[in-house]
Amino acid sequence: MKKFLSVLRGTAENTPPVWMMRQAGRYLPEYRDVRARAGSFLDLVYNSDMACEVTIQPIRRFAFDAAIIFADILVVSHAMGVDLCFEEGEGPRLSVTQNRIDLESLIVTKKTWQPVLETIAKTKKALCTDGFETTTLIGFAGAPWTVACYMVQGHGKDRSFQMVRDLARADPEFFDALIEQITQTTLLYLEDQIQAGAEALQLFDSWAEAADHDLFDRYVIKPTKQIVRIFHEKFPKIPIIGFPRGAHAHLNAYAQTGVQGIGLGTGADLIKARAGQDPRLVLQGNLDPDTLVSGGAALNDAVDRILAATRGTPHIFNLGHGVVPSTPPEHVAQVVERVRRTAI
Ligand code: CP3
Repeated sequence: MKKFLSVLRGTAENTPPVWMMRQAGRYLPEYRDVRARAGSFLDLVYNSDMACEVTIQPIRRFAFDAAIIFADILVVSHAMGVDLCFEEGEGPRLSVTQNRIDLESLIVTKKTWQPVLETIAKTKKALCTDGFETTTLIGFAGAPWTVACYMVQGHGKDRSFQMVRDLARADPEFFDALIEQITQTTLLYLEDQIQAGAEALQLFDSWAEAADHDLFDRYVIKPTKQIVRIFHEKFPKIPIIGFPRGAHAHLNAYAQTGVQGIGLGTGADLIKARAGQDPRLVLQGNLDPDTLVSGGAALNDAVDRILAATRGTPHIFNLGHGVVPSTPPEHVAQVVERVRRTAI
């Protein structure tokens, strides 16, 4: 069995599998080349030949244990009928969904994500032809809370998502309905991804930290649990990694959602996070992306600390958040080499 999948069944490996969030992206010159030819970011996401190419680029360079399909968490909002564009250097812009009328005007069109399914099928095939048959193909979606944050606010510029939290408290009935609609659409999308060939899933809850205590259970835990339960009724063997970034204070509750793995954000203490958890629960993370930019001996030390803290446990080596554009690709190679060498 592929090492990545074996660890997700709860097996501790001597050398942990390694991949990096945003491993396909602007820090790679070959990505920038394709990106320039594609036109806009969304044109790239919906061009399955180009998206397949950029998914495989980091595998060719670094032989990561997993490839994550090149797409975006906002494909689900787009398929729900929201207007979406990515402003150069600014991030996503969406038409807002802030009340019942906005929500009821949205119509889900599964055809929107058809190109992503084609990317999955093409990538699965290409990994084999290119000699990467031990690489696992990860599909993904945003978790409902994080997708709702973008849909309500219309952008990600206020990272506290204050107006989203205010609205969730002022109009819980609307917010429940929004979360439910995202949850149902996400389930359809994830099921389609598995049918197209994805072998594992990650749910990105990048703004979980913004959900304060009273909102966390209702809008992070509950919908995640619902997605995992319903998805596993159909696909009991497909593992799911949840990434509730910044929410390590709620780890025990999150571990009850039924996910096989939990991605930890930068700064979470891996030893504390492990304490008291089911020994088969997989933790993933959590090298600081800024340390990856710096490189040198400090980078080696940071890698060694993670390996020491996780030895003998089912662990997937990753960052605490995505690779940033200023990252020198040689530093990524340095990490992969060290993870594979030190752990022998
Ligand atoms: O390599 C991979 O990880 C796969 C591809 C991937 C992208 N986005 C490509 C992308 C994945 C898994 C995502 C998830 C995603 N998208 C998240 C969750 C992860 C996280 O970073 O917290 C979020 C919050 C988004 C929404 C999003 N997409 C934002 C806020 C931005 C702008 C930020 C930026 O870096 O410009 C994007 C754009 C985006 N998604 C880029 C990439 C490679 C950069 C766009 C470009 O190339 O011009």
